[in-house]
Amino acid sequence: MISEESRARFELEVAKYPADQRQSAVMACLAIAQQQHGYVSPESESDIAEFLGMAPMAVHEVTTFYNMYNQQPVGKYKLNVCTNLPCQLRDGGKALQHLEKKLGIAMGESTPDGLFTLQQCECLGACADSPVLLVNDRTMCSFMSNEKLDQLVDGLRAAEGKA
Ligand code: FES
Repeated sequence: MISEESRARFELEVAKYPADQRQSAVMACLAIAQQQHGYVSPESESDIAEFLGMAPMAVHEVTTFYNMYNQQPVGKYKLNVCTNLPCQLRDGGKALQHLEKKLGIAMGESTPDGLFTLQQCECLGACADSPVLLVNDRTMCSFMSNEKLDQLVDGLRAAEGKA
């Protein structure tokens, strides 16, 4: 269920567009719903569709197109490793495998303590810095050797008191 606070934020986003183009706020509304719940549920999609006057399927198409939208709950730290072709040629796949081993989970899974979710992603626009990964859709990490991957995971664990 969308909170009153989120609904007020939806109104602010819609106000940025002409009155007959409320649908332009769909990405912002999905991001707000995700901030509230941690992911975008089918219920949130329905609420947003109704709010913006869109077909629920049209909202779902946006959710599923962009991998910054989580379709199910994720760990506190979502690690998206680029495995697109240029990165594959420069150890992107190896970085993903290293993290699978380090975290004890397969790509697409979350650690039982709820701390990490590991995903692969498409090009992050930083091919020359491969291996690259994105933490929580915002923080880019470049040149991620196995040693740097270990430092990242160990550092985040330590910050959570789970070292
Ligand atoms: Fe990985 Fe471009 S292919 S950042």
